[in-house]
Amino acid sequence: MSTVVSPALDAHRLRADFPVFEELFGGKPLAYLDSASSAQKPRQVLDRMRQFYEHEYANVHRGVYRLAERATEGYEGARRTVARLLNAPSDKEIVFTRSATEAINLVAYAWGLDNLGPGDVVVITELEHHANFVPWQYIASRTGASFRHIPIDDLGELQLDALDGLAREGNVKVVANNLVSNTLGTINPVERLAEWAHDQGAIMVVDAAQAAPHRAVDVQALGADFVAITGHKLCGPSGIGALWGRRELLETMSPFNLGGEMIRSVALEQTTFNDLPHKFEAGTPAIAEAVGLGAAIDYVTGIGLEAIERHERELVTMTMERLAEVPWITVFGPPADRRAGIVSFAVDGIHPHDVAQILDWEGIAVRAGHHCTQPLMTRLGVAATTRASFYLYSLPDEVERLIEGLHKVKASLG
Ligand SMILES: Cc1ncc(COP(=O)(O)O)c(C=O)c1O
Repeated sequence: MSTVVSPALDAHRLRADFPVFEELFGGKPLAYLDSASSAQKPRQVLDRMRQFYEHEYANVHRGVYRLAERATEGYEGARRTVARLLNAPSDKEIVFTRSATEAINLVAYAWGLDNLGPGDVVVITELEHHANFVPWQYIASRTGASFRHIPIDDLGELQLDALDGLAREGNVKVVANNLVSNTLGTINPVERLAEWAHDQGAIMVVDAAQAAPHRAVDVQALGADFVAITGHKLCGPSGIGALWGRRELLETMSPFNLGGEMIRSVALEQTTFNDLPHKFEAGTPAIAEAVGLGAAIDYVTGIGLEAIERHERELVTMTMERLAEVPWITVFGPPADRRAGIVSFAVDGIHPHDVAQILDWEGIAVRAGHHCTQPLMTRLGVAATTRASFYLYSLPDEVERLIEGLHKVKASLG
């Protein structure tokens, strides 16, 4: 039996799609190692948005004139593209939001306020991004539900043996977890958690903000009930994200934002709400941004998510091998074969902000901070880390530059 292997991607060639790489920073080419925070934008996305604004722009779902029909087709076409990306059973289950954060808030408010109460338990994990932590903590406290977490082990992987204890704490109603940790790169066992959640009668909420740009995400295979993604990490514009939700849940949920577009009829006595997905899209949406997200998904899937994942795995493996040779660096998280293209580390005796500052002088952009995962920082016993993260345009040469840059950091501050 022959195995079909998709071709490796050519990151040097792909870089030509990204105008930002034409610029020098302090006379040096940009080593952009902060894609987990936000990805750079290729011409294909920028050109599509310009074309849309110049030739297809009007408000959506309202006009009967041809230009408005073009705009609506662009916007709804993007929804179909998101549905294909996530293997959603129907594009009516795709709600456009401002971001992954807003997608999760939508579920926490619209589902949580109506379905949680005393005796119920909301389960998140110790490595959640604040976007999938704070809304649940807040809605749990508003409704009287308990808020509990699945701890991680020293390698930054979920300790699933804690689940039985959590089940004894009350009626588990929500399990919320990221598919890929933005700080450690840990790939979490969401399918297993979804099974457990359903055994408890709970919903499974998956934050795929850090996964969908880098690996295939299939909402049906995950067994999830809600999946949140964001456009700007996927080579798309900021200001656009999406929520996939199981139709029967979305149908019965209360609306989140209220106003125009999300109504069927409004009278002084009573308002009725629109069909899915419009019930959850109040007001004029981010139209061109949705179109840009559609173009970004076409771009990324045209390269191939498998090829992207493999490319990042090679870079992360190389980075971890090179960092392991440096005795004054501590790397956090699981081994390379169990993580995505993200590496968080500490340089002995030097604050991550100073590390990032000196690397910037070398044209290397990394992230320093708590990465919106303060409970995880507490578990790791640090206030912040330095984080390098990769994407389809990242080069092995940039890993070498990072290592050289770290030696310069140590020489000047260590
Ligand atoms: C794992 C994870 N979840 C959620 C978010 C929030 O995404 P957004 O800022 O687009 O809402 C991020 C962004 O860093 C993230 O890394």
